Amino acid sequence: MRTQVGIVGAGPAGLLLAHLLHLRGIESVVLDVQTRAAIEQTIRAGILEQGTADLLRDTGVGARMARESKVHHGINLAFEGGLHRIDLTGLSGGRSVVVYPQHEVLVDLIGQRLADGGDVRFGVADVAVDGIDDGWDTDRPIVTFTHDGATHRLECDFVVGADGSHSQCRKLVTGRRDFFRQYPFAWFGILAEAPPSYDELIYAHSERGFVLVSTRSPTVQRLYFQCDPATAVDDWSDDRIWAEFTARLAPAGVAVQDGPIFKKDVLQFRSFVAEPMQRGRLFLVGDAAHTVPPTGAKGLNLAVADVQVLERALGAWYSGDAAPLAEYTATALRRVWRVQWFSWWMTSMLHRFPDSAQDAGDFDLRRQIAELQLVTSSEAVARTLAEHYVGTPPGV
Ligand code: PHB
Repeated sequence: MRTQVGIVGAGPAGLLLAHLLHLRGIESVVLDVQTRAAIEQTIRAGILEQGTADLLRDTGVGARMARESKVHHGINLAFEGGLHRIDLTGLSGGRSVVVYPQHEVLVDLIGQRLADGGDVRFGVADVAVDGIDDGWDTDRPIVTFTHDGATHRLECDFVVGADGSHSQCRKLVTGRRDFFRQYPFAWFGILAEAPPSYDELIYAHSERGFVLVSTRSPTVQRLYFQCDPATAVDDWSDDRIWAEFTARLAPAGVAVQDGPIFKKDVLQFRSFVAEPMQRGRLFLVGDAAHTVPPTGAKGLNLAVADVQVLERALGAWYSGDAAPLAEYTATALRRVWRVQWFSWWMTSMLHRFPDSAQDAGDFDLRRQIAELQLVTSSEAVARTLAEHYVGTPPGV
């Protein structure tokens, strides 16, 4: 078998890349070890930057999103007994974010890829990439895998590692440097059948730790509270969970709307960047190359930004201009590091840092309040938050 671009991973990055390359007339094959059903059902992020939503709509995969999503023009910061709105739209020159769950984006992308006759193979095994070395003028990489009991050999011009945070492809970028930051907390997340507690997202600072009030639909809510990374979901009954949300949100005057909880999970927190994001004819996109803590809602959006840089660079390469592809790491990393900063900033401003010595912990609480007051009273600082939350345009 031969293709132009072999893509390992049918998550948002891999599928979107295949879709955008198709629109440029570039062929690809997408491989994933998971089944289609597993990919379409895994609950992940829910916030699309305006640029992400625009891209999906402008490339023909936004029809269901237009019907089922909700545009949010603001977010709210809760601290010191009050709720303070950040007017995202007013502060960002008219931009906004869209609440539309990641797995719905995947359903739309898979449907479109298959309707366009794309080659997407789920449930593959033994994926191995060969022929990657430092030069990308001469060699041709090969992806081998098994599918439906047969072994396949896929010859490619390029291979893209879109295989998530446990990426196998990343290991082939030998000589890379990994940058890490671990956090001493995690998020306890729930999905509940309940009405919204508020009509926009709430990021709440509290002495008991952070809370995020998010949503998925008018009848399904997504909420998180900061917890110890070793927390076991089974130790938390529904009643105990709702009591914890209430204890953290009541001081800000927010009444939590409860209901049956049908999913509980603990999300670990990490910041991570691998440099470079390429070796020879292998390119990494999305979580394969970097992880952000979820506080800024940036993981999916950052993956989309990588994909946009890479698909343009591949388009240029097939039109005879190799320069953008050679610059892929440098171009992508500028945004990656700025989004790392934003996600770290939101995280550090809103969470209780439990491993600080008591005095330092109290100092941090006061410092965070001062920072939140600054963000909600200085238009310049609020604008910084709003611009990054809705997403800066490509190249900025
Ligand atoms: C979510 O709805 O899952 C969500 C929303 C905003 C965030 C993180 C997660 O910052």
